[in-house]
Amino acid sequence: MKSPIRRNIQVMAGYEPGEQMEGPGLVKLNTNETPYPPSPRVARALRALEPARLRLYPDPVCSRIRTVLAARHGVRPEQVFVGNGSDEILRLITLAFVEDDGSIGSFTPSYSLYEVLAESRNVPIRKVALRPDFGWRMPASFRASVFFLTAPNNPTGVSYPPAEVRAFCSRFKGLVVIDEAYADFADWNHLELAKRLPNVLVMRTLSKSFALAGVRLGYLVGAESLIDALVKLKDSYNVNVLTQTAALAALEDLPYMQKLVGRIRASRTRLAEGLAGLGFSMAPSEANFLWVRPGRIAARALFEGLRARRILVRYNPKHWHPEYLRITVGTNAEIATLLRAIREIQG
Ligand SMILES: Cc1ncc(COP(=O)(O)O)c(C=O)c1O
Repeated sequence: MKSPIRRNIQVMAGYEPGEQMEGPGLVKLNTNETPYPPSPRVARALRALEPARLRLYPDPVCSRIRTVLAARHGVRPEQVFVGNGSDEILRLITLAFVEDDGSIGSFTPSYSLYEVLAESRNVPIRKVALRPDFGWRMPASFRASVFFLTAPNNPTGVSYPPAEVRAFCSRFKGLVVIDEAYADFADWNHLELAKRLPNVLVMRTLSKSFALAGVRLGYLVGAESLIDALVKLKDSYNVNVLTQTAALAALEDLPYMQKLVGRIRASRTRLAEGLAGLGFSMAPSEANFLWVRPGRIAARALFEGLRARRILVRYNPKHWHPEYLRITVGTNAEIATLLRAIREIQG
């Protein structure tokens, strides 16, 4: 019998998430999670949830979360879409806005899920190479149905000047999705563009700055007609009751998130200085990770040496420059452990 699996799905590699090891003594700096717990309000809200509430389906459109987010960003609730993590939203975007004969654009290097989404839709991915300093470069003639503009970018951590992003979005003929998973750690963001331009959507997540990667909640801000299209496509109950409860509690405690971000930004400087002292070069990061090139040892050897000491960082030579590693900013104690281990490995 001929395989029922579509040809493009047979040949696609699928997304490879960073390793999720657990256990004592592990220093986990490979998936850009936050090393601190979420707001104490999250635990309180979950404890206060009546188990009987779980009998019922969740609010299908996350009305309360949409209202809180709309107030935060100065838009109407109808301009906010809430998803089961931003990865779900990215998938829905490729279903709603990429025609069967369309294409997806992204920078390279960037978030490797975009490529998997293009493969799953069986459309080409048009990659725009960043400059050697990982800054912005966009050929004027560039065309795609949807461009995923990641700012700050993953894995480089580099952010792009708002004026350049605005100029690009204004002249681009397709839809621009600005993936702002790391925007809370940056000096600027592009949310205003989602309010002003009909072809711009801005996406955020609670996985990073709100320390809720395990909860799975992402959202999108943009024109109501675009948001409506996604509402039609999503699972009826795409965000479960526990997630809605935890997310709402976290969103109602913005000062806590801002405190975490302040701590991580300070540790980012500490990590950058420590690594520079060990001969590393790196891109200027506006995110909660650093994209680094070891000066005295190959990236792969360092990755393996660290892994043997139960220190996980991200090495992804299939999609990213093989001479670079991405290191999430951990606690100051984790940074000290990492620097000590690197010193040992470099000898
Ligand atoms: C650029 C970018 N977008 C989206 C995501 C996915 O975020 P979420 O946890 O909300 O699915 C990540 C996760 O690492 C990311 O780096």
